[in-house]
Amino acid sequence: MEKKIVFSGVQPSGALTIGNYIGALRNFGELQDEFDCNYCIVDMHAITVPQVPKNLRKNTLDVLSMYMACGIDPEKSTLFVQSHVPAHAELSWVLNTITYMGQLNRMTQFKEKSKKSDENLNAGLFTYPVLMAADILLYQTDFVPVGEDQKQHLELARDLAERFNNKYSDTFVVPEPLIKEFGARIMSLQDPTSKMSKSDSDENAFILLQDNKDKISKKIKRAVTDSVGIVNYSDDQPGIKNLINIYSVLSGKEINDIVDMYSGKGYGVFKSELAEVVVEALDPIQTKYREYLDSKDYLEKIYTEGAQKAEAKARKTLRKVYKKIGFISR
Ligand code: TYM
Repeated sequence: MEKKIVFSGVQPSGALTIGNYIGALRNFGELQDEFDCNYCIVDMHAITVPQVPKNLRKNTLDVLSMYMACGIDPEKSTLFVQSHVPAHAELSWVLNTITYMGQLNRMTQFKEKSKKSDENLNAGLFTYPVLMAADILLYQTDFVPVGEDQKQHLELARDLAERFNNKYSDTFVVPEPLIKEFGARIMSLQDPTSKMSKSDSDENAFILLQDNKDKISKKIKRAVTDSVGIVNYSDDQPGIKNLINIYSVLSGKEINDIVDMYSGKGYGVFKSELAEVVVEALDPIQTKYREYLDSKDYLEKIYTEGAQKAEAKARKTLRKVYKKIGFISR
């Protein structure tokens, strides 16, 4: 039986956070044996906000190294850079022509990002979700492992697949999101009502996958909590709830067991032990990450071969699409 297909992507728009890891990357490796996995570094998405070219190049190799350090095996999965496979831009154009402006106007991520960037309210930011739909639909994807914040974009991808299929006959698989029950939305350490994000201007708000022990401890110590003083898993204590979620996912311990372990102990002890859990979980990833980053030739081999594999799959779908919409082949 043919394996079902998985696709996901990460933007090389800065160093990755434990939010990216817990919500997405951590799950990518686990899927490789059961599914035919495609993992993309979406540099074309990253340029919808201003990027320094030198940093974008560096961040692209950073994400590639992090992908592998988090357990993606390029022998098992197709690992590639989005701009190396032009079919993404090409399908995106076609999908733009069946996307309603109203749908894009309703995208919460666009609304949030456009509030922050009036000087750069570019069309790419607006049509970003269409490019994301193209990424997914090109590979005939069945499942898309992502964090909670991508759910609305996934809905659009499903909607466009169905609209195209209805208009021209069955062409695309309608993809489903794979969103974990715990850890799909890691919150900011400074404001537990908003998502942890690598673009936050306050660096105490996030923990980077590359942060050292000292930084991790300091950031957790400074994490905003409350005046209750009891380690409880409750919506009334969103800061502590977020920290318990991180603890649970990274240690493999159940939420209830963690609450029991810290009953009567206060936030100080809990926070310093959480810092140990985070350091321990990230240590092997950081070691591998540094090794990959130092092997530039190996990285080049991986993304070159990955692009070839991805290109072949993507072309197959694009050829079908062009035929159905009435483009003559050359
Ligand atoms: P990006 O680069 O912002 O984030 C990469 C992945 O990390 C998840 N994530 C989080 N999960 C839990 N808690 C958080 N605080 C947190 N922050 C980020 C994201 O949900 C995502 O899974 N549009 C996408 C990239 C993309 C894509 C795709 C994803 C482009 N094309 C096709 C899947 C399929 C994005 O900006 O992710």
